[in-house]
Amino acid sequence: MRAEVAEFARFRAYTQVVFGPGAIRTAGDLLRSHGVAKALIVTDHGLVQAGLLDRATSALAAAGVEYVVFDGVEPNPCFETVERAADHYKSYLCQGILALGGGSPIDVAKSVGVLATNHGGLADYIGIGKVVNPMPPLLAAPTTVGTGSEVTIFAVITDKEQRKKAVIGSPQLAPLLAVLDPELVLSLPAELVASTGMDALTHAIESVISVFASPFTDGVALEAIRLITGHLPAAVASSAVEPRANLLYASSMAGIAFSCARTGLVHGMAHPLSSYCGVQHGLANAILL
Ligand SMILES: [Fe+2]
Repeated sequence: MRAEVAEFARFRAYTQVVFGPGAIRTAGDLLRSHGVAKALIVTDHGLVQAGLLDRATSALAAAGVEYVVFDGVEPNPCFETVERAADHYKSYLCQGILALGGGSPIDVAKSVGVLATNHGGLADYIGIGKVVNPMPPLLAAPTTVGTGSEVTIFAVITDKEQRKKAVIGSPQLAPLLAVLDPELVLSLPAELVASTGMDALTHAIESVISVFASPFTDGVALEAIRLITGHLPAAVASSAVEPRANLLYASSMAGIAFSCARTGLVHGMAHPLSSYCGVQHGLANAILL
């Protein structure tokens, strides 16, 4: 038990999580159950080439959900990319969003959601608690094992001019739905399993040592640490389902923890390392941890 107990603390998991091999097949029905007849899919070129986009589009088609694809998300995505994706959303009269990818497509999708229902530009919402209106229904399907963005209240977008990362944090940014399908991470290259897995481990460790930590956040963060330390080496060594599934689930658990407990100095230092030197986010965390 902690030596110091805060007078009041809050814990909330915002997102309905559906998990298991093949879970992406539920995406269309899930979005339709929330009134979405046309969705914008936000993803990147690499996932299209890897054939993963087809899994999402077939799920939407099977449920009779129309879709438009925006696959122009780059690593460390910038404000201009968000604006282009938001233009797609508005011009095609979409009603919801499916984010397929790692943290970059999911964070762009969240930012599009903000612009879909709130006035002004994304820069108006940098900081904590500035988003006013709820987003349209957003379903996030992660294809890496680290970001946790599918369940968090944060989006990180790069300001290319100032070479820094802007954080938008608000409960409205939490996706309504997260689909954790281990089959989406089986083709993830070993080096990305390693770096994104270390990102998730950093989220969990920073949650445990945070001044905002509580027994609630400790519960999910400590279990995430147990799963990651137990399965990361095997998940890097092979593409077997079990270790990668455990990493995928752990990364979301760590996301739930740090949405409440926040991250710390390692992330604070890792963001400029990515902005100035282009170091992949998880690798930057691993170096600094
Ligand atoms: Fe991170």
